Parts: sequence; structure tokens; C-alpha cells
Amino acid sequence: MTNLSFCPDSDRVRLSDAHLATLVSALEARGWAVIDNFLHEEHWRPLAVRAKTIEDYRRAGIGRGTDLQVMSAIRRDRIHWLEEVEAADRHWLALMEQVRVGVNRELFLGLFEYESHFAYYPPGAFYLRHVDAFKGEGNRRLSTVLYLNGDWQPGDGGELVLYPEGYHAGIAIAPRAGTLVAFLSEDLPHEVLETRAERYSIAGWFRINGSDSVHLDTAL
Ligand code: OGA
Ligand code: MN
Repeated sequence: MTNLSFCPDSDRVRLSDAHLATLVSALEARGWAVIDNFLHEEHWRPLAVRAKTIEDYRRAGIGRGTDLQVMSAIRRDRIHWLEEVEAADRHWLALMEQVRVGVNRELFLGLFEYESHFAYYPPGAFYLRHVDAFKGEGNRRLSTVLYLNGDWQPGDGGELVLYPEGYHAGIAIAPRAGTLVAFLSEDLPHEVLETRAERYSIAGWFRINGSDSVHLDTAL
């Protein structure tokens, strides 16, 4: 079954009803979702090529004023924000816009905008256990990660480990190309285990509009 197809006229990737339904029901039931083959190879491949082509990955910050030493004890990934001028980036953003509208329609999360960056974890990189947003602060509501590692092997490390309540050992997810993970940003602690292979992904966050989300939601 083909879940996504490029529409020749608009160059858009279409979100399948099946994927939206899986995402919505998992988020509703437990606050997190893992979808293998969210993108088929023909669709993740251009993103993987793009991720490897980026030359100016920068060290990611944790919060304002965090010094470099503290930061590199917490996370060692390098990031590059998506750019609308790049076709592959635009396709991903267009797909996430469909996710935003679909999830809002079904779950009333009030998702307002999406920000996302490529992340590159060189061998030895990790990201210690954290949450993506703090309750009452910030406005990240739903986190997403799409993996772009076509030749990932067991033993390469770099698994994402989710820690839902009651799962002390966590749930490990291989960063295999095409897999999408989504979770409520405030609720789910998670970490990236040290990777032994080069690891590429796109991390993103749907934000709510801090001051006025109720009014904006009604316009959807
Ligand atoms: C993040 C993050 C997870 C991953 O960037 O905040 O948790 O698997 N990424 O890359
Ligand atoms: Mn995170």
C-alpha cells in the first residue's frame, strides 16, 4: 500500500488517512506514537541526501546562557534549521502542515506553527534524558522526530528511549529511515543513547500560540 504520494501538480506529499488515524489514536490513548515507514524510501531518500549535504551544522543550545561545557555534557548533536528554499525541506514542512491541521481537527490541541531542524549525531554523540517543554513555560506542545538512517544496523546505538510513566526501563526505538515518532512535548521524558554510527534525523515541534490560541483555533 502506498501511504504517501507526490501530487504532480503541487509537488506536495500527501498524508494518508491511515497514518493520521494511527497518530491520532496513539496520541489520544497514551500521548506518544511510533510509525514505521511513515515515509517510504522514495520520500525519505531526498531528505537523507539533503541531511548529509548540509555543511554548516551548529552545536545546539539548551537554554539561554547555558555554557558550552555544560551543554556538551547534556547533548552532542549538531543542528541545521530547515529552509523553505530547499525542495526537500519544503516537502517535509508541507507534510507536517497536514499533520498539524489533521491533529487539530481530531484532538483540539491548538497547534499553531511548526519549527524543525535537521540533527546530526556524530559517533560518540548522545542527548541525555530530558523533556522538550516545561509545563507552564514555553509553548511546545507536540514533538516529532523523523529518522533518516537508511543503513542503520542493530549495534549502531543511537536509539531513542522513551520513558512513559510506569516504563522504568524505557522503550527503545531504532533510528531507522522512515520511522516517525511523535509525543506530547511536556509529558514524555526521553533520551538519545550514544551512537556509534553517524545518525541523521529531523526533529520538530508544533507550538501553540502563547497568547491567543483559542481564537486562532476557531478559524481552522
Ligand atoms: C530532541 C530529541 C530525539 C532523537 O532533539 O529534543 O530528543 O531521537 N531528539 O533525535
Ligand atoms: Mn527531545
